[in-house]
Amino acid sequence: MLQRPRRNRQSAVIRSMVEETRLSVKDMMFPLFVMEGQNTQTEISSMPGIYRFTLDLLLSEIESCVKLGIQSFALFPQIPESKKDSMATESYKKGNIYTESIYEISQRFPEISLLTDVAMDPYSSDGHDGIVKEGQILNDETLPVLAKMAIAQAQAGSKLIGPSDMMDGRVGHLRQALDDAGYSQVGIMAYTAKYASAFYGPFRDALESAPKFGDKKSYQMNPANRREALIEAELDEIEGADFLMVKPALAYLDIIALLKENSHLPIAAYNVSGEYAMVKAAAQNGWIDGEKAMLESLLSIKRAGAQVILTYFAKEFAQLKLA
Ligand code: PBG
Repeated sequence: MLQRPRRNRQSAVIRSMVEETRLSVKDMMFPLFVMEGQNTQTEISSMPGIYRFTLDLLLSEIESCVKLGIQSFALFPQIPESKKDSMATESYKKGNIYTESIYEISQRFPEISLLTDVAMDPYSSDGHDGIVKEGQILNDETLPVLAKMAIAQAQAGSKLIGPSDMMDGRVGHLRQALDDAGYSQVGIMAYTAKYASAFYGPFRDALESAPKFGDKKSYQMNPANRREALIEAELDEIEGADFLMVKPALAYLDIIALLKENSHLPIAAYNVSGEYAMVKAAAQNGWIDGEKAMLESLLSIKRAGAQVILTYFAKEFAQLKLA
């Protein structure tokens, strides 16, 4: 036999020499949840090891993550039901928990990268990412709300916003609004191919943000569609995105690879809450080796072409202290 692939697998050193993909904590962005109040952290029951923190404790959490080498974070707010309304007005109110957190974090940790979320759902009494009228999710009417939110976040110190709502035209609208307000340096990580997925369940538990009626299929993408992701990617590029994101990650590795081949922009992938929960649940039952399954999942996302991986595993990965 001329070709014996096993020759390159016979020792740990050779396997390491021919290894094509290597994970680093620098690939990862760690999503965090902030809530109002003081000195409190609550574990999200469907996401073991992941907490909602009040801002004081969140700052210490970020500090310990930074010590572990994590450089990049994404932040989501849990807003009390009493502050939600149909127009998500809390999202751009002065001194709300989210912009206050952005301000404190950027003051305290100027060197980190913080992705801040632009979408109505955490603040919406309807639990949707757009304004609801007669059961419809309005598109163009939602864009100015997103713009107010983005500007409030930029004013608070955000350098990178993540519109996660899937309204048409929002990247272009936000780019223009930020530029007009003097924030041309604020980047946009576009949630380009965000699918209507069952894997977001635990995240909606964390924010208590599940839709009050219906589902998100009229704005998030149909999991059956691949070519349509190219339309979204093309639009986000034209509209001024700085990153393209695929979400979820594991059930959509083909989409990550597709965007990687068809764009020169950096590709991000969101290893979402349900993907995290599945590994944790199986590991807690002793059904799989959680650490190995985590590493294999993260590796597959990078191998598929993601340069940035948003993952709830980031801290656990960083704690492994791999060479
Ligand atoms: C909505 C939003 C969702 C996530 C982040 N922002 C889910 C949804 O559409 O309800 C999901 C993240 C995760 O599951 O980890 N703007």
